[in-house]
Amino acid sequence: MERKLNPETDKKKIEDVLRLLKLNDVDLSKLSEQQRKEMKDHKFWKTQPVPSFDEKIEEEGPIHSDKTPDDIPNEPLPMLPDFEWCTVDIEDEGQLENVFVLLNENYVEDRDAEFRFNYTKDFFKWALKCPGWKPEWNVGVRVKSTGKLVSFISAIPVDLRVRSKFLKSVEINFLCIHKQLRSKRLAPVLIKEITRRVNKENIWHALYTAGTVLPSPISTCRYTHRPLNWSKLCEVGFTALPEGKTNPQMVAQYTLPKGPLMKGFRPLELKDIDETLSLFNRYQERFDLVQLFSKEEFKHWFLGSTDSKVSTESEVIYSYVVENENGKIVDFVSFYSLPFTILNNAVYKNLGIGYLFYYASDADFTYTDRLNPEASEKLKKRLNSLVKDVLIIAKSNKMDVFNALTSQDNSLFLDDLKFGPGDGFLNFYLFNYRAFPVHGGITETKKYDVEKRSDVGIVML
Ligand SMILES: CC(C)(COP(=O)(O)OP(=O)(O)OC[C@H]1O[C@@H](n2cnc3c(N)ncnc32)[C@H](O)[C@@H]1OP(=O)(O)O)[C@@H](O)C(=O)NCCC(=O)NCCS
Repeated sequence: MERKLNPETDKKKIEDVLRLLKLNDVDLSKLSEQQRKEMKDHKFWKTQPVPSFDEKIEEEGPIHSDKTPDDIPNEPLPMLPDFEWCTVDIEDEGQLENVFVLLNENYVEDRDAEFRFNYTKDFFKWALKCPGWKPEWNVGVRVKSTGKLVSFISAIPVDLRVRSKFLKSVEINFLCIHKQLRSKRLAPVLIKEITRRVNKENIWHALYTAGTVLPSPISTCRYTHRPLNWSKLCEVGFTALPEGKTNPQMVAQYTLPKGPLMKGFRPLELKDIDETLSLFNRYQERFDLVQLFSKEEFKHWFLGSTDSKVSTESEVIYSYVVENENGKIVDFVSFYSLPFTILNNAVYKNLGIGYLFYYASDADFTYTDRLNPEASEKLKKRLNSLVKDVLIIAKSNKMDVFNALTSQDNSLFLDDLKFGPGDGFLNFYLFNYRAFPVHGGITETKKYDVEKRSDVGIVML
């Protein structure tokens, strides 16, 4: 049942799908200085506590630190006529459904409307109901007359470390405005409202990511993707056969063993939490931008909230450890699932997508310098085995493609494990905090930086 591919429409389709996958949100290398908006043209962002593009950072630290919650207004800014603010009660199944319908239909979509993100309730329960979550940090805008949810923005609490400084912060995510309400300057109003609600809790910093270039990224990573089920990707028009290659050659290129190969590789269990968290914490020390996890948070993010484990099919987070012959946990790895729905395809309804999340390994712990060639060689070998096993698991869980960024120590395995560079880049931003740049794992020519790797140790959904 092979589909004939037309090179022109396929090219467009592939571009669309890559955009959907956030693989080519913004290609910095293609943006000339003129195309990139200047600071003065960022009518909203130039009023916010963020560093400007040309700012020379002398010292890291908060941009303002003189406010208290009492200085913050008790009421939101006025909303557009006919619309009203709301707090989305994500514990109410109906309201949660409003959020995923809004996002599924408006978050990102290819022009031919053939693929769509398939956010599920389970995904949102995991992503939004982490320890310390606040109901009022799920902000929505509804049509007054019908109650239809037309915009959303969320925050979750996180403790960050930026180099040696600790920041009580939030992560902002899932900003979405209905397609019919775009370009009406609603995004700044939503951002101000979430800022107000967060400030009221005496939190003054935020971490957020975007494909778009805003003032001013602290880091930029590149998206990479690894086909797992090449024939299906090709059949649904997700990828095309490269010139000079045959189908069997492509299938062979991406073939993986049937089951995990590492001795002692097994799912993370509740009893492993203390040991795995301490391995993880030690591993994370190498990075300059990290999220700190309490035991409770670690449990949530890597074992999932108990109420999100409805069935294996709706499994969102997958976490594994490697236990050595002495019963010691020496490696940890995790990934999450966020599939696409395929519209209008008689055979396939879903496209499974896995995203590499956090990992840790003790492979180079005996070295003080992580970039020492021997240390790098040891870690490279271990990470190659670890992530290969994860690819195998992802494939056996019906995932068709696996994505990763150039963050963490990923450049040690991306090439070897056949992750291809995407066209997309993800920018990391800090609100109300000046920081020197953090290396995102790409060279000046946007290749994987195998030598320096990345100093970004945080993964955002
Ligand atoms: C992103 C989105 C909310 C922007 O809405 P919009 O209607 O295009 O933008 P508005 O007219 O309301 O506001 C424009 C302002 O918001 C800023 N903005 C746009 N996208 C932004 C983002 N992702 N993060 C922060 N600010 C953003 C713009 O830079 C501009 O401010 P500026 O003049 O200072 O540069 C909307 O396009 C959307 O819902 N897209 C699909 C989901 C998505 O991509 N979400 C973002 C994921 S990072």
